[in-house]
Amino acid sequence: MGLDFKGRVAIVTGAGGGLGRQHALALAARGARVLVNDLGGARDGSGGSTSAAQAVADEIVAAGGQALASGASVTDYEAVSAMVRQAVEAWGRVDILVNNAGILRDKTFAKMDLADFRLVLDVHLMGAVHCCKAVWPLMTEQKYGRIVMTSSSSGLYGNFGQANYGAAKMALVGLMQTLALEGAKHGIRVNSLAPTAATRMTEGLLPEQVLQALDPAAVVPAMLVLASEQAPTRTILCAGAGAFESAHVTLTQGAWIGTGPDAPEQLAERLEQVCAREGETVPQSGSEQGQREVARALQQR
Ligand code: NAI
Repeated sequence: MGLDFKGRVAIVTGAGGGLGRQHALALAARGARVLVNDLGGARDGSGGSTSAAQAVADEIVAAGGQALASGASVTDYEAVSAMVRQAVEAWGRVDILVNNAGILRDKTFAKMDLADFRLVLDVHLMGAVHCCKAVWPLMTEQKYGRIVMTSSSSGLYGNFGQANYGAAKMALVGLMQTLALEGAKHGIRVNSLAPTAATRMTEGLLPEQVLQALDPAAVVPAMLVLASEQAPTRTILCAGAGAFESAHVTLTQGAWIGTGPDAPEQLAERLEQVCAREGETVPQSGSEQGQREVARALQQR
């Protein structure tokens, strides 16, 4: 099954280096026209210049591809809208959005400033919201769209010192869940990628031997599958060092305990059964979970 991106237009945010650069190069090598976005700031989000995005766009053009550069900050909706217009004016459409831009402001929660918490949410979550919002009308009109959120194992499972980052990364999974539902009838598929790679983001955080195994290019196949015509939707793919897994937000079979005065004590007693993982499922939407609960209560009558 060839993954061909000829005729497609892609925007990759934060593509001036690290994973985003690999995503942009791979999409372009497979035929996509790519708008390479990067604010060009430091790992903590300070500073900025278009030169990082321009260098990757130049690299694509030098290899015979088509690319444009944008230095827009994903935190600035006006700048993001202008970036999307830039792609549309040049190429007439936007088929693929890879929300990849990100920063770190790691500290234990006790020492973390609220300003650092807000900034990290602003870049990861609102940055992705801005980009999705700006491409959404185009994608619904053309009845085709592929959006990839960059989540993280820090969001899915937690990581010491990353309360802000983890919260932002799990929020992107929440954004995916609803955009996938709303986009389905318009041919828009929305997925999440949870990468592990040696980039400046992981410099100093992982031992050298581990970093060597984590070539960012090894994550790219997961992005290509999630951005392809054959893409699934509402899928969370984890990728690192050539290994791939899928993460799920599941629901256990649980138990019906009722609403009697001793419900708290009964729940405490049967917690193991409520949390038992045999037969767990992934509801198709949030309301399905509520409907299941109501159906169970009605069965008791
Ligand atoms: P990186 O620091 O090399 O790449 C992030 C890029 O985003 C940088 O080039 C930066 O200039 C850009 N950026 C930051 N703020 C921006 C803004 N406001 N507007 C536009 N661009 C902005 O790090 P890496 O590792 O390549 O990260 C890419 C994505 O993957 C991030 O979302 C990160 O959180 C995520 N990720 C990375 C993991 C890893 O192991 N490297 C693990 C899990 C997630």
